[in-house]
Amino acid sequence: MEIDFNNSTGDIQEALYKDLERATADGKHPFRFCYLATTNIDQFPAQRTVVLRRVLPSGKLLIFTDYRSPKIQEIKQQNQVAILFYHPRRQVQIRFQAIAKIHHQDSLCLTEWNKLGDHGKNDYQTTLPPGTDLPDYEMDDYHNSEFGSDFFSIISLTPVNMEVLQLSRMGHERMAGAFENGEWTGRRVMP
Ligand SMILES: Cc1cc2nc3c(=O)[nH]c(=O)nc-3n(C[C@H](O)[C@H](O)[C@H](O)COP(=O)(O)O)c2cc1C
Repeated sequence: MEIDFNNSTGDIQEALYKDLERATADGKHPFRFCYLATTNIDQFPAQRTVVLRRVLPSGKLLIFTDYRSPKIQEIKQQNQVAILFYHPRRQVQIRFQAIAKIHHQDSLCLTEWNKLGDHGKNDYQTTLPPGTDLPDYEMDDYHNSEFGSDFFSIISLTPVNMEVLQLSRMGHERMAGAFENGEWTGRRVMP
């Protein structure tokens, strides 16, 4: 269903957040995947697909990653990031600019680690850091469960602004707005 732009921008924002929350529990929801953009060490934009894992009541969005992955260094150097969602059937695009914070070996990581199944944990227990050149010879196994949660980390994103575009045969619609102290103020803009 298309977004009803007769509703207030506040109601639209709230409904979209509910959708994002739903996506964290529904493997088939298109908002489950988003595209996180950082700035790499050469100042180029760097994007990658990630899974939206949680939407916190504060509006923060959580992503899980390997602490050794390049995006962690990129965020340490520049914590201003962007995230993009797209729902192809509903033709809705959501863009956020956000401030990223890295969690590693803290209580949030421990809580989320304990909720992961064995298969989910495997992703963070590779013997070589993500992006490492692989040797010519084949190693038997690149997995070592003895690492436990050593490399599990969470990127917490605090949105600074949000922009929504609804494509429609009846006329495209767009709204933009900013978050301040958790409160969102939106306005309609020309698509
Ligand atoms: C469908 C899909 C989902 C992915 N989800 C994640 C994720 O949740 N976290 C993550 O770190 N990488 C995820 N990846 C891998 C990233 O896109 C990326 O290749 C990897 O994290 C290395 O990124 P970096 O070198 O920029 O740090 C996913 C890839 C795909 C195709």
